[in-house]
Amino acid sequence: MPAGTDSGVTTQVPPAPIGIFDSGVGGLSVLRALHGRLPTASLLYVADSAHAPYGDRDAAHVRQRTERVVDHLVDQGARLIVIACNTATAWAIDAMRARHPEVAFVGVEPGVKPAALLSPTQRFAVMATPATLASVRYADLVARHAPGCFVHPVPCAGLAAAIEQGDAGVAEVDRLLDNYCAPLPGLAIDTVVLGCTHYPFVMDRIAMRLGPGIHLLDTADAVARRVVELLAQEGPHPALAAEAPLRLQSTGAPDVLSRMAMAGLGRAMHVDTVLL
Ligand code: DGL
Repeated sequence: MPAGTDSGVTTQVPPAPIGIFDSGVGGLSVLRALHGRLPTASLLYVADSAHAPYGDRDAAHVRQRTERVVDHLVDQGARLIVIACNTATAWAIDAMRARHPEVAFVGVEPGVKPAALLSPTQRFAVMATPATLASVRYADLVARHAPGCFVHPVPCAGLAAAIEQGDAGVAEVDRLLDNYCAPLPGLAIDTVVLGCTHYPFVMDRIAMRLGPGIHLLDTADAVARRVVELLAQEGPHPALAAEAPLRLQSTGAPDVLSRMAMAGLGRAMHVDTVLL
């Protein structure tokens, strides 16, 4: 019997969503890029705000929370999941691929490879969470794609957490960025990689501190392109055929996610609370 039918009567099967998740609001930068490329796709975004930030915590916390959220997305029907979090990708994507071999995973990694390709001076910095920069995956990324480059890591403890607070966190964001950005113009670098999906939300504030000679590199659109490529390889994904809305879920207070979604996606969006 064909899928979607029962005793000969066709029933409406909800389209399988593409799952996207982050510790909090950061992955909205990836959601925005993905929605731009796949405007009719059903996208289900989960912010694990009750357990954010990930990047200042240990690997066990990141793995355990990633597992909970990924299991939830699989239960919701997702067969393609974007881990829109550099920290969770660094510490948990291999374990998730082993746990759910039927699911295609796309991770997000600091743009070391494009920076090495594009940087005229071969000197750049990577702003990311302490956990991302401490990972073996990050060390491998630099060794594989930027041998011979000067790559300056900037562990931005507390920055994602401050961005996560929305308007209430602006003063703290400014204080932290003053500290983290101050040494960078003196390093003769030409590029700063934004290695955390939260940071594009404060891109202007970072750019202001670095001055015009330093290019900021964000990988959200490259991730969206990778998802589109994967879908093309696998044939039409049910999500593409449907006129399905974006859905937002949060494990914590929904207000910041809903305000950031309004700013990022340009429309009011309801946020469902999920207990995971
Ligand atoms: N947005 C996440 C990342 O890309 C993590 C932020 C956090 O929870 O520390 O790493």
